[in-house]
Amino acid sequence: MPAEYLCTEAELYPVPKCLLDPSLSPTPHINSIEQYKKLYDESIKSPTEFWGKIARETLIWATPFQTVLSGDFEHGDIAWFLEGQLNATYNCVDRHAIKNPDKVAIIYEADEPGQDRKITYGELLRDVCRLANALKAHGVRKGDIVTIYMPMIPEAIIAFLACARLGALHSVVFTGFSAESLRGRIQDASSKFVITADEVRRGRKTIYIKNIVDDALKECSTVERVFVFRRTGSKVSFIIPRDVWWHEEIQKYQPYCSPEFVNAEDPLFLLYTSGSTGKPKGILHTTAGYLLCAATTLKYVFDYHEGDIFGCMADIGWITGHTYVVYGPLACGGTSVLFESTPLYPTPSRYWEVVAKHKITHFYTAPTAIRLLHRFGREYIDCHDLSSLRIIASVGEPIDPESWKWYYEVVGRNVCSVIDTYWQTETGSTIISPLPCAILTKPGSATLPFFGIDLAVLDSITGKEITTTEAEGVLVIRQPWPSIARTIYNDHNRYVNTYLKPYKGYYFTGDCVIRDRDGYYWIRGRVDDVINVSGHRISTAEIESALDAHPMVAETAVIGVSDELTGQSVHAFVTLKPNCSTDVKELTLQIRKVIGPFATPKKIYIVSDLPKTRSGKIMRRVLRKIISNETDQLGDLSTLSDPNLINILVDKVNSS
Ligand code: PRX
Repeated sequence: MPAEYLCTEAELYPVPKCLLDPSLSPTPHINSIEQYKKLYDESIKSPTEFWGKIARETLIWATPFQTVLSGDFEHGDIAWFLEGQLNATYNCVDRHAIKNPDKVAIIYEADEPGQDRKITYGELLRDVCRLANALKAHGVRKGDIVTIYMPMIPEAIIAFLACARLGALHSVVFTGFSAESLRGRIQDASSKFVITADEVRRGRKTIYIKNIVDDALKECSTVERVFVFRRTGSKVSFIIPRDVWWHEEIQKYQPYCSPEFVNAEDPLFLLYTSGSTGKPKGILHTTAGYLLCAATTLKYVFDYHEGDIFGCMADIGWITGHTYVVYGPLACGGTSVLFESTPLYPTPSRYWEVVAKHKITHFYTAPTAIRLLHRFGREYIDCHDLSSLRIIASVGEPIDPESWKWYYEVVGRNVCSVIDTYWQTETGSTIISPLPCAILTKPGSATLPFFGIDLAVLDSITGKEITTTEAEGVLVIRQPWPSIARTIYNDHNRYVNTYLKPYKGYYFTGDCVIRDRDGYYWIRGRVDDVINVSGHRISTAEIESALDAHPMVAETAVIGVSDELTGQSVHAFVTLKPNCSTDVKELTLQIRKVIGPFATPKKIYIVSDLPKTRSGKIMRRVLRKIISNETDQLGDLSTLSDPNLINILVDKVNSS
């Protein structure tokens, strides 16, 4: 269906009645479009009054701030709440542990059903303090970068928070990344400390992460200490004195450690993400602004209330896990579900069993998982009591209207709000999404901007703002908001060039968008060479350079192709050096080795040549059309150096 049709003809879904019924649901924080618009206008016209007030109400400050905002996009020197001092863990743990130590902070749903565990705020505080003391004893100090490579277990969250307790930054690496990727991130951050576990268990599969860490550390001279948590108890190699056992270390230390109060702008963490060149970027988030938006979006976008059980299924290795498994729910004193398994283990009912068992009120996942479960059919869902759910949400990639409707009707049973949240690692928290009781939804649209997010659509060619309501172009933001990333670690120039320079005076999202006649936003996808596979961001350049590093490979072209299940999938075209031979299996292994299993291409085509212009530029557009079987729309081929190549490539693709 063409985008224009979706945008203009899309049905409006009302706010489910039961969300506005005080006998069935808590009183919404924002309950009308008028209330949303009033607050939104205030947040744009007077951002300092707006965010200053929320920051005083939401966070506990050791030293109050005086200046709400300084700096701008032009100079790339944004800073919020300048004089303020605070500690993220005091805000996420202590204050709730003091008031309500027995409240459950984390519900851990282990890979094997039935092995769940609950951790109260009182316990969490003691666990975080013990680990913080142990890390301190091993030399971790404010400003150090600790790399975390951990399974989805409570100790991962404890590790995040123990770093933040000391004012150290965490750099969490998703365990789907290979030893080489992990090494690159450790080296870029010059990490001296790594926290890991023996193994990851997921869907009964095992990932031997301690081995991966050992492999990664072969060329990481900076690393002095590796804390190893025992998750499965399998025998692992142990390199003394570099490696220490988590369980042995924490026994030595008392369960209280005073928090290091840091400046509002001191960094809280680094998170590496893919850009349009091969080298991942260490996105840096600061303490106060990030935490404030994590908590504020949780409150308003998810209409979070005391007693809610927040079930975000994302891995803690991605930004969604950081913001909506860890910092958002804990900053609000909520209960967060940490899900270690997969939606299909042991059966495609797993999510719904978990919702019913823990009485989850908010369920948050990615469109790929929704599409996957849709395929299995509703019999896996209908037999479970999902009546606790109020809000069901989606993130990471555009959700197609069909999947949206299925989510609404089958999972939400027409009584839950579907919240499509559009955001990025760099934005820190969601920036376009409906508010459940105030903004009517349209399947496939993330709807309207959050407070403080001043959106504009630019003509991609002229770079001028399109001032009509209906618009199509690149999505940019006019003013800073508190959780915008402040820099790329050790590469501020790249930060400026990527986000602030393309359109002077604006933050450039890298996405193109349609704004419909109601002012609703429809994200259409990236305009750069970043592809989105199952909500995971991968750069084509990163995959190309992984393949190029193979000794037999001469040239590669990687493209993203739309895929019914995963949103997009990776297709790679490879030419080999003269007199060299290799096969698809080996090239697949090469990518798994250099990046990690999640970046595995759906197809690799070994071809004799790549389509190029006469000046030698690879014509990826032509490859895209060949893959999508649109060879009648190849466009202008007059610059193609060898027109016969097209037929050869078509045959290759059709026979693979
Ligand atoms: O292209 C957009 C897409 O994912 C990109 C950001 O990826 P990442 O930094 O990994 O963060 C993902 C989780 C926040 C965006 O530039 N994207 C994210 N959410 C949506 C989306 N595209 C459409 N709709 C969404 N809801």
